[in-house]
Amino acid sequence: MSNPFLAQHRRLALTTLAGLLVSLAALPGTTLAQANVLNLYSARHYQTDEALYANFTKITGIKINRLDGKEDELVERIRNEGTASPADILITVDAARLEVADSLGLFQPVKSKLLEERIPAALRTPNWVAFSTRARVIVYNKAAIKREQVQNYADLAGPALKGQVCVRSGSHPYNLSLGAAVIAHEGEAKAEAWARGLVANFARAPKGGDTDQIKSVAAGECGVTISNTYYLARMMRSTKADDQQAMTAVGMVFPNQASWGTHINISGAGVLKYAPHREAAVKFMEYLASDEAQAYFADGNNEWPVVRGSVAANATLLSMGSFKSDTLPIGELAKNTVAAQKVFDRAGWK
Ligand SMILES: [Fe+2]
Repeated sequence: MSNPFLAQHRRLALTTLAGLLVSLAALPGTTLAQANVLNLYSARHYQTDEALYANFTKITGIKINRLDGKEDELVERIRNEGTASPADILITVDAARLEVADSLGLFQPVKSKLLEERIPAALRTPNWVAFSTRARVIVYNKAAIKREQVQNYADLAGPALKGQVCVRSGSHPYNLSLGAAVIAHEGEAKAEAWARGLVANFARAPKGGDTDQIKSVAAGECGVTISNTYYLARMMRSTKADDQQAMTAVGMVFPNQASWGTHINISGAGVLKYAPHREAAVKFMEYLASDEAQAYFADGNNEWPVVRGSVAANATLLSMGSFKSDTLPIGELAKNTVAAQKVFDRAGWK
């Protein structure tokens, strides 16, 4: 137990292990002082990230110790670990989640000329950075709903779609971030009226994830839903017969093209306040903004690169076409997610 990293880890393993996939414990010889190591806490849930990380090690020689877990468990863990935390970076999806970590003071600011040059200002905050984007779009059943009926998020709350809306929980970060965008553009009162209208149109109480909603829409159990684009892209690329069948039944709309644009969200990361390997952490952040890493995001998880000029060499993404996206700075959006939860609570979007 002379090794501080392992000692710390063992102690925590006893207290906060539940649900976490522990990979750090299997790494004897890892010490806080070891330079060529990066301790990454990851709440990204995409298997394709393996190649993204392996490539970093290949390029830099820096070994990544990854701890996978659910977002709230990782955040709780980092808080409990405090100044002794071995974590260098927290990587996760959705601005709402990064905002939670940031508001708890878990990150430290990163100043990097490279990040500033490559990542648009609207997709950066002082403490965390976006590395890919996904859009939250409308998916409808082509037999039940006319495309013209679902051009805007607001349309989903109108009386014409009574009993037609399936959607995941209002407490889920993807919906909180969408709510945050609605608040930013239209104010809290309108956002609440929208949420009430949406709830009044529910075909059923919220359950499942975005993919479940898409399948329900395809099966005609409901007429319309809201989904992140990569779930759709995944089904479009699927070779399973039922996925292909589902994709023939649904249409996709980039909402709000005549107003503030389609809500986009991000996956992103921040360097943790007590990162023992700060230099490696900044290198990793800069790596995520490289052309190579950006291509992994696009190919692996069907997300759009954030770096200007990076092309998504992904036929499925390209087939979705170009669209007008919301230009609200992601940091501003994130600040509204707490208000969004309150609005949804009042509207009964559970
Ligand atoms: Fe997701």
